[in-house]
Amino acid sequence: MSELETLTPVETLPSDPELEDGDHDRFSHYARKADIVESTVTGRPIVALCGKVWVPNRDPDRLAEVVASGPTSAAKDRTRLMGMLRTLRSVVRLRRSELDRTARRLRGAANLDDLRRLAKKRLPGGVFDYIDGGAEDELTLDRNVRSFREAEFRPRVLRDMGAVDTSSMLLGRPLAFPFVTAPTGFPRIADPEGELAVVRAAARAGVPFTLSTMGTRSIEECAEVAPEGARLWFQVYTWRDRSLVQEMVERSAAAGYEALVLTVDTAVLGRRERDVRRGFTLPPEIGPGTFLDGMLHPGWTWRFLRSEPIRFSNVVGSSVGDGSDAVSLAEYMTTQFDPGLSWRDVEWLQSIWDGPIVLKGIQTVADARLAADAGVAAIALSNHGGRQLDGAPAPFDLLPEVVDAVGHRLEVICDGGVRRGSDVVKACALGAAAVMAGRAHLYALGAAGERGVDHMLEFMQAGAARTMALCGAATVADLDPTLVRLPSR
Ligand code: GLV
Repeated sequence: MSELETLTPVETLPSDPELEDGDHDRFSHYARKADIVESTVTGRPIVALCGKVWVPNRDPDRLAEVVASGPTSAAKDRTRLMGMLRTLRSVVRLRRSELDRTARRLRGAANLDDLRRLAKKRLPGGVFDYIDGGAEDELTLDRNVRSFREAEFRPRVLRDMGAVDTSSMLLGRPLAFPFVTAPTGFPRIADPEGELAVVRAAARAGVPFTLSTMGTRSIEECAEVAPEGARLWFQVYTWRDRSLVQEMVERSAAAGYEALVLTVDTAVLGRRERDVRRGFTLPPEIGPGTFLDGMLHPGWTWRFLRSEPIRFSNVVGSSVGDGSDAVSLAEYMTTQFDPGLSWRDVEWLQSIWDGPIVLKGIQTVADARLAADAGVAAIALSNHGGRQLDGAPAPFDLLPEVVDAVGHRLEVICDGGVRRGSDVVKACALGAAAVMAGRAHLYALGAAGERGVDHMLEFMQAGAARTMALCGAATVADLDPTLVRLPSR
């Protein structure tokens, strides 16, 4: 109440109030509507009313009688109400309204599941399913994610986590955290900027970006937007026409790409039954079947129609199909890619490329050993995000035995099932040099374009840093297998 006294004007009662019955009534009347309190300044009772404080200056005793009868129930109600308002004010903070729609959307996206949900809402069903789906029953797709979820931390405490550093080394060069964006076909179906957005976001986040042979931006276009110091890798599929592969390898070298990633799990294309059901083609066709889907996603359709046609940009102008005629991916792969790929081709690639080579799609210890014998710099344990052989093992499950067998001879990357920063930590604790993730940036692109990819990379790194702090590992080098317990199988 001292607050009331200092904040409100103080008026005294008339100079000589005869506090007879009438006045008494007046005070009672006031008291019924007002708080009767003791002044912390004068120690005398006062009546606080209508934002003013009434101080009886002649006959405090008579007022004291009124006061003695205690506050009226109205006064009690008002006090209770004021208390409630004060409590409410302490817990309710009105959020500043965000005028930027993308920022508003991203503010509600706390994790990759949220970005996935947003992408699902914004992309036509066929496009979303192409990104989201896996082969056949999607058992491997589920297993990839589940393998991370089932692993449990064995956190250490009291280890001075004042400064956590997520930076690490991969292929002899630094990266801000052990994460690489995986090669993915057709990012422009998620957002018209496609790979260019991912190149820039990955560079900002300090992690390598991998361009797919089936990219919708060319080797040169990606190099052009990459800032100084950005790390670019190029993924190779082996076309039947090897001169085309050679030409792409030379273009990658000329454009300053650092490493080649040879995908080895695609002798034939896995059967993605969601795409089969929808008759999904690349680039997507707006035919009668997809027309309604397009109408239901006007934002995507508008952006898609306004941007230049989606092509397999790396082969535009060559003798092979560049996507001018929409085809199913399976059809394209069958006609263009060589199912006869073998270890001899790894040797051949080494003979035409000076830099490091990553073999992506290794799924057994036996092949990991052959890769080490072949002298590649790294392998990516991968089942192509569950999109090829359904029933293949989860890369995370393979890690301990593969690292044990070849970890001293090459770097092991874990690709598939990564949904959180804590997954990065789990993989590195089991000996991975880094993780790769593809759907993560596609969901992010679909949800909010380039800013979505920034957001995703930020929460992945922040999640890795937080998990490390909670596990008692201040640096990536401090991560070791004792921090993770795998379920017994
Ligand atoms: C392309 O590589 C795909 O998996 O769709």
